[in-house]
Amino acid sequence: YKGEFQQPAIQDGVSRHADSITLGNELKPDFVFNWAKPSNMEDFVAEDGKTYKVPMGMPNFGSLKEILMTAMVSNLKIRGHVLVWHSQTPAWFFKENYSLKQDAAFVDKDTMNARMEWYIKSVMDYVAEFENRYNKGNRIITMWDVVNEAVSDNASSSKWLREDSNWYRVYKSDEFIVNAFRYANKYAPKECILVYNDYNCYSPAKLKGICKVIDSIKAAPDARIDAIGMQSHVKIDYPNVTGHNSYEDAVQTFINKGLDVQVTELDIANGKKAYSSILLKAKYKEYFKMFLNNRKTEGKNGITGVTVWGLIDKSTWLNNQAEYKGHKQFPLLFKDDFTVKPAFWGVYEAAKDFKENQ
Ligand code: GLA
Repeated sequence: YKGEFQQPAIQDGVSRHADSITLGNELKPDFVFNWAKPSNMEDFVAEDGKTYKVPMGMPNFGSLKEILMTAMVSNLKIRGHVLVWHSQTPAWFFKENYSLKQDAAFVDKDTMNARMEWYIKSVMDYVAEFENRYNKGNRIITMWDVVNEAVSDNASSSKWLREDSNWYRVYKSDEFIVNAFRYANKYAPKECILVYNDYNCYSPAKLKGICKVIDSIKAAPDARIDAIGMQSHVKIDYPNVTGHNSYEDAVQTFINKGLDVQVTELDIANGKKAYSSILLKAKYKEYFKMFLNNRKTEGKNGITGVTVWGLIDKSTWLNNQAEYKGHKQFPLLFKDDFTVKPAFWGVYEAAKDFKENQ
């Protein structure tokens, strides 16, 4: 946000091509807490009727106001990303007395429930107040990634949750995931879309793990989940877009479970292969053809949105990934001068073909 998106010409371009943006970092707990450290405490009465201590004057929402304002004047909606995640969340949030010491003990589940409830409520209240005050109550944040990346890459039928997570360390079960969707349902606006977001959803093992999580959420009476977010940091040759055990297979598995799908973090890495703009164009076209074939239609679940993870190749996160060291990545739709790449026309052609075949 602080880089490209502060330039009015870029905002103008984005609002021409997109309906919605996702902030790469600014709605993650570290940023929402603005890296402040808790000092004074105040009381919070949680849904169990008990009173818990929460840090006074927090969260203070850093630059959220400016971001909401920018989105509002650019006529863009925001995908909220993310409420509950093992990464980019301060460790003190999980510790007895909000201790900053590394070896401090974790709190018990009841205390963590109260803290999670307080956090989700605080974020929702802040955003709703902004929307009421400045945007006549019309929503700017229309959906939330409620939980991100809680399923293990090596999910099996007996063990499917990610364990290198402070959330897991406190709960040792999927209870925090279910509770996150209960609190989100309680405090988010009714029309706000609640999403579970993860990467490699098309890996057959992980897909099964995510389905178990969906079942737990759906079994909880006060929880609501509307969609699965498929991060989609894909490679030019992995996975297959259609066919057995493909990306499309995962999309249809989620649809058959009664959920919508959002493609939330799409970029197509050339990986260790040399970059070919023509190959990338063909791949984007293939993906968008499949997305459109599975799009949501009246009365049926389907894909409700696609987000590309970044604008220009120069800023892609992939070039900081150890796995691609020495192999430059060109995964996005725009060149560094913000002119379109052939890949952009791949998306365009897929949309045009789709329209003509209607
Ligand atoms: C994950 C997260 C994103 C981002 C990327 C790396 O996909 O969901 O928020 O941190 O990793 O850019």
